[in-house]
Amino acid sequence: MCGIVGYIGNNDSKEILLKGLEKLEYRGYDSAGIAVKNENGIHVFKAKGRIADLRGIVNENVMAEIGIGHTRWATHGVPSMVNSHPHQSESGRFTLVHNGVIENYDLLKREYLADVRFESETDTEVIVQLVDKFAHEGFETLEAFRNTLKLLHGSYALALLDAEDNETIYVAKNKSPLLVGLGDGFNVVASDAMAMLQVTNQYVELMDKEIVIVAKDEVTIQNLAGETINRTPYTAELDASDIEKGTYPHYMLKEIDEQPAVLRKIIQAYQNDQGQLKIEEEIISAVKAADRIYIIAAGTSYHAGLVGKQFIENLAKVPVEVHISSEFGYNMPLLSERPLFIFISQSGETADSRAVLVQVKEMGYPALTITNVPGSTLSREADYTLLLHAGPEIAVASTKAYTAQLAVLGILAEVTAKSRGLEVSFDLIHELGLAANAMEVLCDSKEIIEVMAREFLSVTRNCFFIGRGIDFYVGLEGALKLKEISYIQAEGFAGGELKHGTIALIEEGTPVIALATQESVNLSIRGNVKEVVARGANPCIISMNGLNMDEDSFVIPEVHELLTPLISVIPLQLLAYYAALHRDCDVDKPRNLAKSVTVE
Ligand code: M6R
Repeated sequence: MCGIVGYIGNNDSKEILLKGLEKLEYRGYDSAGIAVKNENGIHVFKAKGRIADLRGIVNENVMAEIGIGHTRWATHGVPSMVNSHPHQSESGRFTLVHNGVIENYDLLKREYLADVRFESETDTEVIVQLVDKFAHEGFETLEAFRNTLKLLHGSYALALLDAEDNETIYVAKNKSPLLVGLGDGFNVVASDAMAMLQVTNQYVELMDKEIVIVAKDEVTIQNLAGETINRTPYTAELDASDIEKGTYPHYMLKEIDEQPAVLRKIIQAYQNDQGQLKIEEEIISAVKAADRIYIIAAGTSYHAGLVGKQFIENLAKVPVEVHISSEFGYNMPLLSERPLFIFISQSGETADSRAVLVQVKEMGYPALTITNVPGSTLSREADYTLLLHAGPEIAVASTKAYTAQLAVLGILAEVTAKSRGLEVSFDLIHELGLAANAMEVLCDSKEIIEVMAREFLSVTRNCFFIGRGIDFYVGLEGALKLKEISYIQAEGFAGGELKHGTIALIEEGTPVIALATQESVNLSIRGNVKEVVARGANPCIISMNGLNMDEDSFVIPEVHELLTPLISVIPLQLLAYYAALHRDCDVDKPRNLAKSVTVE
């Protein structure tokens, strides 16, 4: 979380930095700031709130060809002017922006900076004060920066300005994402290529514990020992229109609507010339060599993992465990003899998942990352990667990445099954094609779902989602979508589990959204609906064509039973969207959240 940008060149930097921050706002939006430097010194502008608030206070008359900027997701200290970045050293010489968490900041403060007056509650301020302390002791800025980095434990992406140097932005990275972008007569720094696509599509990836000296005509990468590292730039394959809302009022709605196209793209991307699904042989060999698969993920990606377990166990007959990444590292289960770890992560940057990846790599186990972001940390550090091909997902609430994750997991399961000589009783390409068509029908049903959102969710404080089997997992995702953007307290439950406690929460009018897409449990989930109705609940049954009954609120088109999660989630995404809209919530940037969760 948090996003950082930097610019050095011949143009005024303010607008480039502000535009970049707007593109990074998905990473955090508690407060924002920029620092620009010209012949009169360093000028810092900060605002609590959004980049729009920052724009309002930036002095248009200050022209400066070098600058850094930050949008914050608070970890240490409340969102406020004083805690917002950039932070400055006591002497005012150094100015810094930071994404990450410095775990030993308190210790460093006591050991090295006891006589320094701190302005903020942040861990970041320790870094800038340390650089100043080393500079004060006589070290050149680069050495002072390097000495500081050697003391830090934790994660950081950093950009530093020195008031005595007009030629350089000092940059460093460990665990948090950071790229340097190359231009003609200018260079930029950004947490994500999207931020600087306005000025360049040429980027250099940075590795952990590297320092970069960014001048307007030159970029020098060094390791902590001071050795120079050569790295070839790459072209960011992003289309600027992918990251615009276009005519949509919100990214979330645009991304919901993109799902049929994404699914078709995935079918294409994972097909060979003979029209069969394909996945690199070495990945399939790794899956086949495993006696158990451990799926590690967080949030929506964890929910995709739960469905993925059904796909893999059903088709490929390999046992699968699904774990929440933030729990796994501290509470590791007894592992099988030949495990394969699959990390599912839209961003490929989730710190909780990355911490597990580091652990399992140290233990010598193979790892596959399923991600939407090529070159992301989880992709780089795993042995294998499968891409989601979903295009940038900007809204904090994940939608198209979830259905893309399901599709890729389904393809992995099918290709593994066939490679193991197991029979797959249906044609997955054909069934995914039908699922894409069904998605289109659902995306065209917005008006009906908007009315349902009004009927079931406009006045309620809470809401339950129930389902059995694979529908239960989709219910968990539906509940997460609803709570994260509408702030209605929402929980997903296995239909049969309600009566073991949760049913006590059902009151007159409590909405209970039930999924009924599985023939084998159709009658039993309807029995659970009757139990809650008898206690006053307001039931909303979403069933699949062929299994529907008169009392159902919404019927989704029929698709293969195993693939229903790709479809049944869409009305739940739309219900959440309209519930949030009706409550005047900020759909794309819900409170307290950020898109990319890069702190543990
Ligand atoms: O980038 P990741 O898929 O690793 O992110 C994991 C979660 O933070 C993410 O899915 C989160 O739960 C979504 N915002 C939910 O919509």
